[in-house]
Amino acid sequence: MNLKIAVLSGDGIGPEVILQAKKALYAIGVVFDHEFVFEDALIGAVAIEKTGNPLPEQTLNLCLNTDAVLFGAVGNTKYDNNHDPKLRPVNGLLKLRQALGLYANIRPVKPYKDLLDLSPLKRKIIEGTDFVIFRELSGGSYFSEKKTNAQGTLASDLCEYSDEEIIRVSHLAFRTAQKRQKKVTLVDKASILETSRLWRKVVQEISENYPDVTLDFLYVDNAAMQIIINPKQFDVILTENLFGDILSDEASVITGAIGLLPSASLGNSSALFKPVHGTFSQAKGKNTANPIASILSAAMLLEHFGLQLEAKKVYEAVEKAIELNVVTADLNPYSKFGTNEVGDFISNYILSKDELLYF
Ligand code: IPM
Ligand code: MN
Repeated sequence: MNLKIAVLSGDGIGPEVILQAKKALYAIGVVFDHEFVFEDALIGAVAIEKTGNPLPEQTLNLCLNTDAVLFGAVGNTKYDNNHDPKLRPVNGLLKLRQALGLYANIRPVKPYKDLLDLSPLKRKIIEGTDFVIFRELSGGSYFSEKKTNAQGTLASDLCEYSDEEIIRVSHLAFRTAQKRQKKVTLVDKASILETSRLWRKVVQEISENYPDVTLDFLYVDNAAMQIIINPKQFDVILTENLFGDILSDEASVITGAIGLLPSASLGNSSALFKPVHGTFSQAKGKNTANPIASILSAAMLLEHFGLQLEAKKVYEAVEKAIELNVVTADLNPYSKFGTNEVGDFISNYILSKDELLYF
């Protein structure tokens, strides 16, 4: 297969961790005879510095004319609170999501058996957890009207949803549930919010097309608690943009480290893959950041293009790294391995038939 991949490494640890994902994809290309062509482009604070725009036109055009986007992270304290929101690094990502029509953000949560004791939650609670969050990504308070009055004393963020926006992400969630444990949990605040009531009505209607899937509803406050006290009850969590953002960081606690969580953002004709974590600027350039979330995001990219065996190989390589303790310090405080070494191990494992060669 021939794939053109735009690489938007961005800020903070983005470039270091994305480099490891590229190495893993390169190795997959060699072993399975695919041609992955990478093209780098600017996004976020580095793009502001070089072009004055967090999403330069050239980057946007590249992303619109590519098969997939591999994305690192954006943000930089120097610019994050810029008075002009258009000049904030995160705006590069938000504009890109909008321009590419990325409406579904998929975030799987499944702890590794060798890392169960890393989580602050008890082993018996998290063991066997396997769910996926479907976060609506292009609507809600992220993208509806925003206002601050002239005196700077009053502000509002409208939260708006159309039935169309709810329908498209919900179908994806139900179709995924059909291939899994056949359960969708809609997380909302229907006791208070009009948008949540619309979500309930629309999702209930959609569920009639999927009689093999059970649908239940949970208020977001209760969901935040249930994710911690009984995460095994979930299969597919479907929710709006902001709730999904919050719950996915919370859910990362189950896996023990946010540096393990990948995500896929899908639209009708575009797809972007990025770690759930952010820029982690304190670690920038120190070769300490965990590259696994980025490498697993690359595996999700492979799955998206139907390359299941290839994705499986990446998952296997990551499992092996964890099993053999070739991990960064967030997973093992005594580790002598850094970002690059973990990335090397994983790409070498993919290339090699015998991982022991590398010890
Ligand atoms: C995420 C991030 C982004 C979000 C930020 C960087 C805009 O937190 O991907 O979860 O809030 O969506
Ligand atoms: Mn987030």
